Amino acid sequence: MTDRYAVVGNPIAHSKSPLIHAEFARQTGQDMAYTAILAPLDDFAGTVKQFRAEGGKGLNVTVPFKQEAWKLATRLTDRARLAEAVNTLKFEPDGTILGDNTDGAGLTRDIRENRGIPFEGKRVLLMGAGGAARGVLLPLLLQKPERLVIANRTPEKAVELERRFAAYGPVEGGDYARLAGSLFDIGINATSSSLSDALPPLPQGVFAPGALAYDMMYGKGLTPFLQFAQTHGAEHLADGLGMLVEQAAESFFLWRGVRPQTSSVIAKLKQL
Ligand code: ATR
Repeated sequence: MTDRYAVVGNPIAHSKSPLIHAEFARQTGQDMAYTAILAPLDDFAGTVKQFRAEGGKGLNVTVPFKQEAWKLATRLTDRARLAEAVNTLKFEPDGTILGDNTDGAGLTRDIRENRGIPFEGKRVLLMGAGGAARGVLLPLLLQKPERLVIANRTPEKAVELERRFAAYGPVEGGDYARLAGSLFDIGINATSSSLSDALPPLPQGVFAPGALAYDMMYGKGLTPFLQFAQTHGAEHLADGLGMLVEQAAESFFLWRGVRPQTSSVIAKLKQL
């Protein structure tokens, strides 16, 4: 029987996940269907319950339900527990609802494998201290950067993340002004600033020679952050399309135990 999966969000119409998972299923010969479900803002739990009752095997969860999914899971991976956000649910035969967060693995894999840039010994800057930043912090620290600085407009939130993640690596949190005079090899924009056509208030001269600027957002052309990075010394620029496909691959692996090949899917999405 065909196993059923879906992505749940609100809005959901523009999600690329059905296309990505259909491509993975075709490529690996997995008998599965993957759809998009619009959940009412006040009834995520009911939507999940119904999908499970109909025999659904797993869900991807997107805005604005990742924190609700974290609460709903009855077992969490470490990375989901620390992120306090879940983007992947797996319904186990024994009734367990496993919650995982594959965003950080998607981000680090895109940078390390697809772009050939390792994190070991690198100075990493993470901009933002909301859900998107929290979701990638543990996987980033597990890559053993030399230092990981979190900068946020509201510095208290970055300091709070420093406290929470200090046991996992050399993490520091604060405001943007304190970045002046520091150099970074990898700068990751995890703020939602691109949505309002804005960019984080970065001081001049933070990109080290050969630096990568990475925006977790994607869309047409360069985001304001990537435009800034391009004119302020970053050598490599990347948007979040690769992360999107890699986090999907990681979810697919959790569900099916098979790792799909991602580069052809990334190339296909770029053409669209
Ligand atoms: P998400 O789940 O996308 O992370 P969020 O939890 O609302 O959404 O967090 C949004 C993040 O983007 C926050 O770190 C926010 O900074 P504040 O905590 O100071 O609000 C950041 N952000 C949004 N717009 C920004 C802008 N124009 N410049 C800098 N940071 C911005």
